[in-house]
Amino acid sequence: MLRFLFGTLLCAAVNPALNEPDSPFDLALRPGDFSEFHGQTKVKEQLLVMVEAAKMRGESLDHVLLCGPPGLGKTTLANLIASAVGTKLHTTSGPQIERAGDLAGILTNLQERDILFVDEIHRLHPSIEEYLYPAIEDFRLDIIIDQGPKARTIRLDLPPFTLVGATTRAGMLTAPMRSRFGIPNRLDYYSCEELQHIITRSARLLNVAIHTEGAHEIARRSRGTPRVANHLLRWVRDYAQVKTQSAITGEVAHAALTMRDIDETGLDEMDKRFLEAVIGKFDGGPVGMNSIAVAVGEDASTLEDVHEPYLVMQGLIKRTPRGRVAMPAAYRKLGLMPPTTAQQDLF
Ligand SMILES: Nc1ncnc2c1ncn2[C@@H]1O[C@H](COP(=O)(O)OP(=O)(O)O)[C@@H](O)[C@H]1O
Ligand SMILES: [Mg+2]
Repeated sequence: MLRFLFGTLLCAAVNPALNEPDSPFDLALRPGDFSEFHGQTKVKEQLLVMVEAAKMRGESLDHVLLCGPPGLGKTTLANLIASAVGTKLHTTSGPQIERAGDLAGILTNLQERDILFVDEIHRLHPSIEEYLYPAIEDFRLDIIIDQGPKARTIRLDLPPFTLVGATTRAGMLTAPMRSRFGIPNRLDYYSCEELQHIITRSARLLNVAIHTEGAHEIARRSRGTPRVANHLLRWVRDYAQVKTQSAITGEVAHAALTMRDIDETGLDEMDKRFLEAVIGKFDGGPVGMNSIAVAVGEDASTLEDVHEPYLVMQGLIKRTPRGRVAMPAAYRKLGLMPPTTAQQDLF
């Protein structure tokens, strides 16, 4: 029990809070315009074209869907879109809108061409979605007042506005909701070079001296995610200040990150427990996510949002119709011999 508790606490400390709301630290490092937003070139270019076209026509921007794992820049992009359009951003999230009245309150506060940012849009209640469709298609809201024989509908006209939806699980969006957006904008994990660039910028904003090797060392352990990169930088900055009183060199970054058990490819404690569970407890799989969640003591949706996409991207885990399977690289990662091909064929 103690080990489990300690493991959980350690994970929370090491994994830089991928699912948490933004801290003042995150906000301070958030790019203020598109030119400061590094990477995701395709998505950025498409958004800029859309913004430019809407401005030229003097119309509201088309609705935008941003998909991708946590920490890749969805909220940042929503903010950048609003400032590029030159209108106000209204922020809410799927679980926050509980009743139709909540939605009506938000929608009736919008001005022409404002941006309504709905984070975790896949978690909107189906009945709320029904209200949202006419609002985003025809800019009208039909509200039912009273119940039983006295029930009547009133129609509110809304100003043309733009819905920016963000989701970590595009697959969980309902088909009608997906069809209301144009082409979805998928954010991918960042390359090491891109993260290095982001880390160097953050260090400059934080007034921290960093060498190229130091930024590189942090970048390659940031699991392709700017939010992780910034949080690791914060830890390495503390380490350098206390232990070496120096700039962040490659060596300093290496020592600081090794102290926190973050390995060379950015796997954290929970990623490793995920692999250990699939291999050690379930013979390499196939195994369902709920069983893995129980085995590692973490919420299944956090594992699916945060850990699994990175493990799949690294070629350590494969998703099959029957469940998750450990790939040979996962065995090697844990210092084990992968099963023979014949055994693997059984999957
Ligand atoms: N392309 C980028 N360039 C620089 N910093 C970024 C970039 N994308 C994200 N960040 C940083 O990472 C943090 C997390 O981004 P955020 O937009 O909150 O991610 P998401 O909403 O996808 O979880 C932000 O505070 C921002 O500082
Ligand atoms: Mg966000």
